Amino acid sequence: MKKKDKKYIVTPWEVSGDVDYGKIIKEFGVKPLDNNIIARFKKHTGKLHYFLRRNIFFSHMYLDKILDEFEKGNNFYLYTGRAPSGPVHLGHLIPWMFTKWLQDKFKVNLLFQIPDEEKFLFNKETTLEATKYWAKENILDIIAVGFDPKKTKIFLDTEYAGHMYKYACMAAKKMTFSTIKSTFGLKDSHNIGIIFYTAMQSVPAFLPTVMEKKKTGVLIPCAIDQDVHFRLTRDVAESLGFPKPATILCRFLPALSQGGKMSSSIANTTIWTTDGPNAVKGKINKYAFSGGRDTVEEHRKKGGNPDIDVAYQWLTFFEEDDKKLRKIYEEYKSGKLLSGELKQILIDKLNAFLKVHQKNREKAKNQLDKFILRD
Ligand code: TRP
Repeated sequence: MKKKDKKYIVTPWEVSGDVDYGKIIKEFGVKPLDNNIIARFKKHTGKLHYFLRRNIFFSHMYLDKILDEFEKGNNFYLYTGRAPSGPVHLGHLIPWMFTKWLQDKFKVNLLFQIPDEEKFLFNKETTLEATKYWAKENILDIIAVGFDPKKTKIFLDTEYAGHMYKYACMAAKKMTFSTIKSTFGLKDSHNIGIIFYTAMQSVPAFLPTVMEKKKTGVLIPCAIDQDVHFRLTRDVAESLGFPKPATILCRFLPALSQGGKMSSSIANTTIWTTDGPNAVKGKINKYAFSGGRDTVEEHRKKGGNPDIDVAYQWLTFFEEDDKKLRKIYEEYKSGKLLSGELKQILIDKLNAFLKVHQKNREKAKNQLDKFILRD
């Protein structure tokens, strides 16, 4: 595709514009989660998670291989991660909630990488002290999602590097400068830590085989922008004696006031996991882009447009009940439900969700030792 035709950007460091997920599947060379694989998946999980029913998780690579092995009695590991440099917002929780569901359904181990060097290397102003501080804060949010402490290990790269470094070097030796440069669009002025970084993000895809002392598959639930790292991992894995990691990929929670994803750097578009009820109410009412009409009269007559309404879009991520969601869709479209009323439904939903999350986040403060791996 010609660059000027492109209305969105999706890289591990930048997501903006109105993302066309159909196109992205082709561009990234990943597979859609089609009916065949979903039907196979469902045999093991029973009722599908609403993220699958709604195509929020919409794509994958090698999920079929994970199921082949699982059906032969070979367990896989889950692996996901979070690069800390600020607080967690609601968009970050989407892949983590899904990862927890997968852990419950398949009863498998999870490795959770906290690359506390990543944002340090990529952002000029970010210090290692800051990423370490945010790592500890973010881990509370991760634990609050409800992972099984017996089956989950969380580690900071700078604290677990002794176990990781050997495998990072093995991967790095097979990844050329020219590949990294063209894959990520790097310039000569980029620092060499950035060039090496993908090797570190590859390592947790290899660790299960090391830990289990036999070839062990890995499934990585994450947002689509991360697949490019794992494409590079897949290119080197087998020659190092590890299976190619599989991914299951999700869309972005849209920003409140614009397209793209919710950005940590634009406060108006973001709801933090620590926001109180009034902050949530204020931000949704003020910033959530509305698909409603200009006047109540016109809205009643012509109806709203849920397909562009951010409050409605957010409910697809947070209202589990399909029937309730359908009713909201229809009533908004017919004009029965006003934009302010729709926003109120979302505000109540999010505040109930955050109340539970924040309680769990408090409890997590005493559980850190159960989860964290160190050298
Ligand atoms: N690069 C990711 C970020 O920017 C962090 C990360 C490390 C990750 N390993 C991962 C994300 C595995 C998803 C899956 O937050």
